[in-house]
Amino acid sequence: MHPASTARAVRIRRAESRDAAALAEFCARTFRETYDAHNSEEDMALHLHTHFSEALQRAEIADADAVMLVAEHEGALAGYAKVRRGAAPACVGGERPVEVQRFYVDRAWQGTGLAYRLMDAAHEWARALGADTLWLGVWERNPRAIAFYGKCGFMDVGAWTFTLGTDVQNDRLMVQKVGG
Ligand SMILES: CC(C)(COP(=O)(O)OP(=O)(O)OC[C@H]1O[C@@H](n2cnc3c(N)ncnc32)[C@H](O)[C@@H]1OP(=O)(O)O)[C@@H](O)C(=O)NCCC(=O)NCCS
Repeated sequence: MHPASTARAVRIRRAESRDAAALAEFCARTFRETYDAHNSEEDMALHLHTHFSEALQRAEIADADAVMLVAEHEGALAGYAKVRRGAAPACVGGERPVEVQRFYVDRAWQGTGLAYRLMDAAHEWARALGADTLWLGVWERNPRAIAFYGKCGFMDVGAWTFTLGTDVQNDRLMVQKVGG
């Protein structure tokens, strides 16, 4: 694990089109590392194939309703996050919800404080997208992420389902107000 002092030197910036290839590889790897133990290889392969191509990352980076953030250190990705404005489930509330659609910190950077800096940046960009409410879905079997979001001030307001490959899974929905 990297020391916290190094984590403070990690640069967080908005992704650009030229990041798409590296991002696609990083997204797929971190997704697999996070969920591999609890999912079949078939479901994992299907999800990776349908979600993390370079072309899809390029399109997501260009999405006018979204901001993709990357954290990088010495030219390598250390984490990424994506916020997107749009409709939200009723229990989220708020007039202008923005979702934290993705939030991943590489293993070597977990526990270093980088995740908090990335969440601060996500907040900042959510505000720039006009948000009054920030929300997310997190798998009920991901206790570390649930604990982290709780420490960031998110409150559990309900549940929805997420399909990984062919497997329908339960997510907790968590919400936080965005200050002016
Ligand atoms: C979720 C994530 C962003 C959190 O960042 P982090 O740097 O690991 O955050 P922390 O180290 O502060 O960990 C959060 C808390 O969970 C605790 N924790 C660690 N492992 C845990 C576990 N197995 N069960 C419950 N809590 C756990 C930590 O101890 C910490 O609490 P503490 O500060 O009171 O000790 C990061 O772990 C990550 O990217 N994980 C993989 C991707 C992922 O799950 N993304 C979320 C998708 S919704």
